[in-house]
Amino acid sequence: MRSLFLAWIAIAGSTAVGLAQTAPAGPAINVNLTEPGPMIPSTLVGVFFEDINFGADGGLMDERIKNRSFEFPNGLTGWHPVGTGVKTEVIRATPLGERNPHSLRLECTQADSGIANEGFRGIGVRSGTRYQFSAWLRAPGGGRPTMRVALCTLDGQTLTEARITRIRNDWRRYDCSLPALADEPKARLRLTLEQPGIVEADLVSLMPDESLKGPLRGFRRDLVNMLRDLKPGFLRFPGGCIVEGRRLALRYQWKNTLGDRDDRSLLINRWNDEFKHRPAPDYFQTFNLGFYEYFLLSEELGAEPLPILNCGMACQFNSGELAPLDELDPYIQDALDLIEFANGSDSTPWGRRRRDLGHAAPFNLKFLGIGNEQWGPQYLERYERFAKVLSVRHPEIRLVSSAGPSPSDERFEFLWPRLRELKADIIDEHCYAGPEWFYQNAGRYDGYDRSGPKVFMGEYAAQSVGVAKPENRNTWGCALAEAAFLTGIERNADLVVMSSYAPLFGHLDGWQWTPNLIWFDNLGVFGTPSYYVQQLFGRNRGESILGVKIDGSDRNGEKRLYVSAAQGRGEVILKIVNASPTARTVRIELAGARRLGERIRSSALAHADLNAENSLAQPLRVAPVESEFPLADPFFEHSLAGSSLTVLRIPCRP
Ligand code: AHR
Repeated sequence: MRSLFLAWIAIAGSTAVGLAQTAPAGPAINVNLTEPGPMIPSTLVGVFFEDINFGADGGLMDERIKNRSFEFPNGLTGWHPVGTGVKTEVIRATPLGERNPHSLRLECTQADSGIANEGFRGIGVRSGTRYQFSAWLRAPGGGRPTMRVALCTLDGQTLTEARITRIRNDWRRYDCSLPALADEPKARLRLTLEQPGIVEADLVSLMPDESLKGPLRGFRRDLVNMLRDLKPGFLRFPGGCIVEGRRLALRYQWKNTLGDRDDRSLLINRWNDEFKHRPAPDYFQTFNLGFYEYFLLSEELGAEPLPILNCGMACQFNSGELAPLDELDPYIQDALDLIEFANGSDSTPWGRRRRDLGHAAPFNLKFLGIGNEQWGPQYLERYERFAKVLSVRHPEIRLVSSAGPSPSDERFEFLWPRLRELKADIIDEHCYAGPEWFYQNAGRYDGYDRSGPKVFMGEYAAQSVGVAKPENRNTWGCALAEAAFLTGIERNADLVVMSSYAPLFGHLDGWQWTPNLIWFDNLGVFGTPSYYVQQLFGRNRGESILGVKIDGSDRNGEKRLYVSAAQGRGEVILKIVNASPTARTVRIELAGARRLGERIRSSALAHADLNAENSLAQPLRVAPVESEFPLADPFFEHSLAGSSLTVLRIPCRP
């Protein structure tokens, strides 16, 4: 291919010279249509979801009540007494059910006293939306009390209110609807008794009407739309370190996340107390978002599901606890059962379980991650055992293995060759580093051996200050460096079959880790500049790699330009990062292009200030600008803004 390509450059160059005599321009970007390269997998750009930064409860899930079942270790977490004449207590005496042993006992000695829930750093209330309240209640003292249900401001002003009357002395579910007439990002839900009395409560819920219905019932619409707009090729879940847990007993176990949402048992979130500088003592996993919902979400997004399972190792940044090798069977069985749950027919126990949950058709699982970010010989021993069983029982499933937490340290150097010997299928590399690393590594995969495992760049993000530093910002400078790196990934899409930015979501008032791809609060959401980079690559993927050079050079980054090119259906998709702060004109040479269409479509992401960021107030400060211009010749000039990513969709055929 290389010799043909050189020949083509010679021809293309001579034609271009003629043009250059009348139109002197900057560097030439030479795209070779004569020789389509390898196919670009649909999974090239996907998303990494982890319940970090209140990404699930308080984030992607619309339930607004924190600790709604009073099962948090401190049973009153998130709840505050209202008024002086009230005694609040979490009791076990009269449970609602086996899975909900605790409930709230509210004893009011004065009228209009009760309790309030703070939500997840407040409750977002939007004018014009109705909020559906429900709770299981009983009045053990009789008297058929009346409860006032209100949404109110922090200082107690009522925003909307409804009444639940005649509460009986046995457990019953009560519902009411609260229309909101004003916006309030940090409201509370207040429950008070009109007269002195005793009420017990459990499974308190508040859901906005605007919440999604259908398969994604209970998902937050605006956040799901942000994911849809990325057109992700895959969805990795549920992490991240929460797969591992601080100790093995606290690991993520997918089977515990199925079934009635009200009956799922609580687990501490590993990010609860991970960072002393960002403590989140109220962070637990209710599994409102469980494995079945992850599969549904993947399906709705048109993304391949990529579950990651614990491999018998707790987080190595924490206890590093190991399941003994002769006790790995239950972990491996979890993997086998998960494959059956996803793909099995309803004549199998787990396939039947999926059908009973409402999904008769298989989810068509193709990938499975064995361990998250593991390293050392302990990982290899465990991975090998999983791989031995799975490769025989499920050769159709592609296994993802870990290369550790860094893209180049001794853990990485130790793992890669051994995983190659083990004939690992896809190796998950992680990289959190400064923007310069991403520029320097735009050619990282050019020299990788093609005969071994494929690569999944499974977690990466440019860090403006330092790895996971709380001062990190989602700047345009970071996003531009990621764009340069992504051109390198796309050029090597025969090897790098998956990539995902991490983490995905951050609650503006509840984050532990920054930077994140998408930020939100209780009412709003915005994409970072990195989000729009991911979106441009995700939505403009193309079908096969095309050879591309910069002034005849194969080096990506030549003249501070980073480029990749793909053949799409009847078009060439060209991505160009101008990492120089100055605007410049490039000469684009499409060698072998025929049957040109009339207009080129361009999406350009640019900002002169590398420190520019998006925000709730300015969500589109750094966002793609679309334009079109005529196409007359396969060799043409194009102006690039300084510090920009441009995607050109050029209608033509080889
Ligand atoms: O993305 C945040 C964390 O970074 C992930 O949970 C972990 O895999 C990595 O260390």
